[in-house]
Amino acid sequence: MGAAGATGGATLRSLAAMGAPTRALTRDPDRLAATLDSGTRPLVDPTYADAADPRSLREALREARQLFLTMANGPHQVEHELRTIDIAGECGVEHVVKISAPAAEPRSPVAVSRGHHRTEEHLLASGMAATVLRPYAFMQKLLLQAPGIAAAGVMHGAMERARCNYVDVRDIGDIAADVLTRPELAGGTYELTGGRAYSHPEVAELIGELLGRPVRYVDLAPDELRAHLMTRAGMPEWLATHVVEIQRLAVLRKEEPDPTITRLTGRVPRTLPAFLEEHLPLFR
Ligand SMILES: NC(=O)c1ccc[n+]([C@@H]2O[C@H](COP(=O)([O-])OP(=O)(O)OC[C@H]3O[C@@H](n4cnc5c(N)ncnc54)[C@H](OP(=O)(O)O)[C@@H]3O)[C@@H](O)[C@H]2O)c1
Repeated sequence: MGAAGATGGATLRSLAAMGAPTRALTRDPDRLAATLDSGTRPLVDPTYADAADPRSLREALREARQLFLTMANGPHQVEHELRTIDIAGECGVEHVVKISAPAAEPRSPVAVSRGHHRTEEHLLASGMAATVLRPYAFMQKLLLQAPGIAAAGVMHGAMERARCNYVDVRDIGDIAADVLTRPELAGGTYELTGGRAYSHPEVAELIGELLGRPVRYVDLAPDELRAHLMTRAGMPEWLATHVVEIQRLAVLRKEEPDPTITRLTGRVPRTLPAFLEEHLPLFR
């Protein structure tokens, strides 16, 4: 599921690197097929599925044994994930790997995480084997700060000096692919973080060092950041509210690296300095 998106795309590429054939679900199979390289194409079957359309899900999940379930955030996310889980069960899927989020609890301060909690509970009650991946903030989302840094040398947030457990989406894809291909890993709940947590002032300093010019972090009040994201970045209100809630979660609950990625794979997670260096042209 979500094979054209961030976590689904990373999982698809990790599975392809292992030589594992995958049915890649999307609402636009032609667009997905056009993104595949010649090594990946023979292993991937781009297939139409819309979680709003039960018939397409039944067709797409036919004879599947395992499902990787990820879904873009949005007002219908929980409804779409619950429906997908129900239809996967009807189709005989044996194991579901679900992308969840930190603080997936009934009274979580993050609304999206309350939704993930509902979906996790539904999945655990489904009778299928269930593996839950709870990644922290994706390093890739820091690229949203690139235009502001390139234009004005400024990065905005509402996280004060709290540190955030950034994780590279490619590590999430590697873990998902491992869990889908190594039966001994199935059935757990895994917190996924990078090897070190960074505050916003530290991220600004890192980018400044790489660019060779100062980058300033401006900490805004939560309401100011929400307004900034809606007016400057054009985010809908629910998404701006989500970004603010995630940043305030890091202030409310200290984030510390979790060793799960190393424990499962035997290697250290990708680092934030390496990620920023790789994407430096975007910040220039
Ligand atoms: N961003 C973070 O830092 C972060 C941190 C922790 C957890 N998470 C969680 O990670 C998940 C998002 O993962 P992501 O970044 O991989 O998502 P994404 O790239 O935003 O979207 C994933 C895919 O969802 C699919 N989708 C949307 N509506 C659909 C529908 N009606 N039917 C079928 N597919 C649909 C889209 O596929 P098509 O358009 O191809 O159909 C899209 O490519 C969220 O649940 C979020 O809470 C995010």
